Amino acid sequence: MRAWLQPLSLLLLLLAASTPLRAETGADLWLRYHALPDGPERTTYRRELETFAVTFTSPTGDTIARELTRGLTGLLGVRARRADDPRVATLVIGTTASPAIRALGWDAAFKGLGDDGFVIRRATIARAPVVVVASNGESGALYGAFHLLRLVQLRRPLDRIDVAEHPRLARRLLNHWDNLDGSIERGYAGRSFFWPEPDAGRIADYARANASIGINGSVINSVNANPQSLTPPYLQKAAAIAAILRPYKIRVYLAANFAAPRAIGGLQTNDPLDRSVAAWWRAKADEIYKLIPDFGGFVVKANSEGQPGPQDYGRTHADGANVLADALAPHGGVVMWRAFVYNADVDPDRVKRAYAEFVPLDGKFRPNVFAQVKNGPLDFQPREPFHPMFGAMPKTPLMAELQITQEYLGQSNHLVYLAPMWKEFLDADTFARGAGSPVSKVIDGTLDGQRETGIAGVANTGLDANWTGHDFGQANWYAFGRLAWNPDLQAGAIADEWIRMTWGDAPDVVATIHAIMLESREVYVHYTMPLGLHHLIGGDHYAPMPENASAQRPDWTAVYYHHADTTGIGFDRTRAGSKAVDQYRAPLADRWNDPAATPDELLLWFHHLPWDYRMRSGRTLSQEISESYNRGVLEAQALERQWATLEGHVDDERFAAVSAKLHRQVRDAADWRTKCVAFFEHARSGAGK
Ligand code: GCU
Repeated sequence: MRAWLQPLSLLLLLLAASTPLRAETGADLWLRYHALPDGPERTTYRRELETFAVTFTSPTGDTIARELTRGLTGLLGVRARRADDPRVATLVIGTTASPAIRALGWDAAFKGLGDDGFVIRRATIARAPVVVVASNGESGALYGAFHLLRLVQLRRPLDRIDVAEHPRLARRLLNHWDNLDGSIERGYAGRSFFWPEPDAGRIADYARANASIGINGSVINSVNANPQSLTPPYLQKAAAIAAILRPYKIRVYLAANFAAPRAIGGLQTNDPLDRSVAAWWRAKADEIYKLIPDFGGFVVKANSEGQPGPQDYGRTHADGANVLADALAPHGGVVMWRAFVYNADVDPDRVKRAYAEFVPLDGKFRPNVFAQVKNGPLDFQPREPFHPMFGAMPKTPLMAELQITQEYLGQSNHLVYLAPMWKEFLDADTFARGAGSPVSKVIDGTLDGQRETGIAGVANTGLDANWTGHDFGQANWYAFGRLAWNPDLQAGAIADEWIRMTWGDAPDVVATIHAIMLESREVYVHYTMPLGLHHLIGGDHYAPMPENASAQRPDWTAVYYHHADTTGIGFDRTRAGSKAVDQYRAPLADRWNDPAATPDELLLWFHHLPWDYRMRSGRTLSQEISESYNRGVLEAQALERQWATLEGHVDDERFAAVSAKLHRQVRDAADWRTKCVAFFEHARSGAGK
């Protein structure tokens, strides 16, 4: 840019930043950096933060400097300046490798923080007061810089700042179900920015957003992996993507197709115990690490939904995972072997199959293998009990897999804030080592002393201007990252951060959006799958299809799950039924075996009950189901009304976009009610038989 243009562009930037309620596309996510109101608070921040120094020179150091310039300039309404020397800066970002940070004598504070953790404190450097963001590693400096920007966005005072943070989970990944042709499986926000050609600008912005919430890995192709993804042309593209992500401390991972040795390697077999197969995977790993030295590893969907796997050769999941793990181990890579398997020969009840196949293999996997387990035993339903594998495999690190893209939760049309659902899962007590053994402690390694820890979220991003299709889908991406960093954070607190940064911090705006978000998941459950009902859908996983009785396999229908007939409704998973309850520990197994002790939310997940079963409310089961559908519709209407009160309080463009989505949501809710209530009424009366 020409020098004389700079003041002008700065002026334009400042004008734009201070104009209230300018139209927005949502493209800036929670990194809008709108100017804080003029006043003493902003003056204080300016004094504290206007001149910053980053004590190290590297691509990550430059990334930090660029983000601070952008963020502080926007927020403070004054050009933030980078100083070369920490002694003339008011804000110092550094690592313990730098003398300026070491001289602070904070060694004790860095213990246990690892490379990703950081401290933010005040200090005196060259006799002047400074704010210091310091870490053992560059990644921690990056996360600390974003944390500081968040604090300013949230208008938290810095005068007594004393923060020490580190992530509870080491691998915090997004799984992209992106196909090499650019389509996205279960993607509802446009096409892929990775394939068929990487979109460099978009990927850099994606990386910024991820780094701001601590995400440090991306699986860039679909679990239904095309073997071509491991061929040189695609590995070159993966390397180009990795180069963009690297300064943001995000590693690339790939989904691998187990049949790759035959499909692209010309081998006669994929048998994991065959020496030529092992050699092929070793050579492939070597080839990948030459191109991508910090490559993270492979996720594998094997012997699941038609994908090839070790069982095709009479081998176990452990045999399959280990051959890949051995190839990656010399380079420090990991295998995430998915437990989303449901072979009908294993057990008549789909939800029991993964546990039955995997738990006996505990202790048989290499140390660099995770079993990657969905939060619930079925498939990302609006409500499931936690997957019984959590707490049942003490010798195997388990990577939890959550789904951010709302495949069964209204996709990008319905407003559903997922953090309350994820919290229900993370906080669920497995009783694996007695009371107080929540899922969060299984996956963070503290319960069984795991070294490898991680969590994966199936991404909801695409090329849509606002990234996620629904503006509120962004909240789920944000919340996933925050919970991956610290599963103990509260859903409401995460929502408040996101709302303030994304929509503004006027109290009425925050309170209204907070109320909408925190209710939204339960509302969705009420009008779609109440009382533990599940899978009342067809192939698109969107519209109600309780009548769905014919699919390629019985466990892809709806009737397989609800069993609605004249005798009652629900899936009997008690000891008198499929015995799925016994995959859980005491006291859960006994509790869920007894309808009177089972919470209403899971009643029909575990029980088949007569229509006149008396509920806690005093209503019959049949009445309770109808009541839930009615209530859900009314609640959806209330969400729309609450949102309407924000007209003029948030920008018009996003206001209108969300209004339109909520309007559709209300209509869809009514469709769910009409269809399901009528269907169950028919089933109850035996009409149509
Ligand atoms: C769901 C989803 C599929 C996906 C699968 C998986 O069943 O509908 O599209 O491939 O999960 O997690 O592997």
